[in-house]
Amino acid sequence: MENNMHLFQGTAFSSKSPKETQILKDHLFLVNDNGMIEQIVAPQDTNYQTLLDAYQGKNNFHPLAGGQYFVPGFIDLHVHAPQWAQSGTALDIPLYDWLNTYTFPLESKFSDLRFAEKVYGDVVSTLIANGTTTALYFATVHKEASLLLAEICAKKGQRGLVGKVVMDDPEQNPAYYRDLDTRTALLDTEEFIVAVQALAQSTKQGVYPVVTPRFIPSCTDEALKGLGELAAKYDTYVQSHCSESDWAHGYVRDRFQKNDAFALHDFGLLRDKSVMAHCNFLDDHDADLFAETGTAVAHCPVSNAYFANSVIPIAHFHNKGVEIGLGSDISGGFSPSLFDNIRQAVISSRMLEDGVNPSLPAHERGVPDSRITIDEAFYLATAGGGESLSLPIGRIQANYAWDVQVIDTNVPSSKLPIYDANEDLHDIFQKIMYLSRPENIREVWIQGEKVHSR
Ligand code: GUN
Ligand code: FE
Repeated sequence: MENNMHLFQGTAFSSKSPKETQILKDHLFLVNDNGMIEQIVAPQDTNYQTLLDAYQGKNNFHPLAGGQYFVPGFIDLHVHAPQWAQSGTALDIPLYDWLNTYTFPLESKFSDLRFAEKVYGDVVSTLIANGTTTALYFATVHKEASLLLAEICAKKGQRGLVGKVVMDDPEQNPAYYRDLDTRTALLDTEEFIVAVQALAQSTKQGVYPVVTPRFIPSCTDEALKGLGELAAKYDTYVQSHCSESDWAHGYVRDRFQKNDAFALHDFGLLRDKSVMAHCNFLDDHDADLFAETGTAVAHCPVSNAYFANSVIPIAHFHNKGVEIGLGSDISGGFSPSLFDNIRQAVISSRMLEDGVNPSLPAHERGVPDSRITIDEAFYLATAGGGESLSLPIGRIQANYAWDVQVIDTNVPSSKLPIYDANEDLHDIFQKIMYLSRPENIREVWIQGEKVHSR
């Protein structure tokens, strides 16, 4: 039995609560055959030495070198996998124009499975190399290419939650890029769900189908209703864009005389397994509805700085009991790294609190109580994402999956400024959060399997 177990040794950081990061100094982490953390043992525990003696020198013993630390793998709650092909471009135009002139033409090319394979292979590998162990993906309207993305996640060992995008309204979507009709959109979605659930059986880490109306403007009422029914029938995840921009938010108010949150709820699309991206214009009633239904927010701080012209009041929604995680929103956000999004989440929140109009007196410039700390942003990228998905991931804790990044602070090309062997570990944690680059991510493990090393 013990032969199938792995023992890791080193110092780990993990969120205890949104505001508090737990430091597990020189602990042992026993990981079972299913890739779950079976036991965490502190140096002062009585079985520490016995356990160490049993594994030392064997190839299932993995001690960290000096200057290396365990950090939970990141959970990216909002990524458009096809848009990796245009990351870093066209960020200076408004959302509506960006969708129509750049994004829909690009996504339409994923009818070509060879092109899809190239981009999807690259984006999954890139996210893993950036420490993302779980990703909630939008694919495109194409059923086959969407299934290919799930297969690539399965093969590369990433926990992928994948949605075939639904855009069925012929009035709202271009003829070259939309579902054939509403019936086909729903049939394709159902076949996609069944295929991904079957594929999941052959994976250790799990892959999951996600019901994915792109956003209300792209879908007919009939499609939204049918998707709500499919989500209930197959108990799937649901994702969409919610109250993202002035334009999208205003469109939904004109069509339904209510905000996105209540409109989505009417169609059965707010469930415990729902994750809504952006949510910049959520009001307090919407937030209460999210908290009641268990719907989570995918906070996309880099993207929001470009397309939303807004900063979402994370701290306020958190206080109202809404689950929140972080999303890169590739390519609305240019970066595949949740480290970058952690940093931007902190910076944006400070600008919201402090305000940016120097002609106003300091106390009138911003929104009080908006700041989040680096610990809170780390929580969003890890434990908050796990809670949003109701999966035992995002924490280094017993009965959680061994999804970790090994951060090396001593990499020559990106050496973190640590000069005191006894430096406070919370200070080191902060340096890791602010200064790590992909080259500092030495190894990535998902469900107890090493999926990346450098
Ligand atoms: N709203 C509808 N589609 C999209 C998309 O692809 N990206 C973003 N950021 N917002 C959207
Ligand atoms: Fe998006």
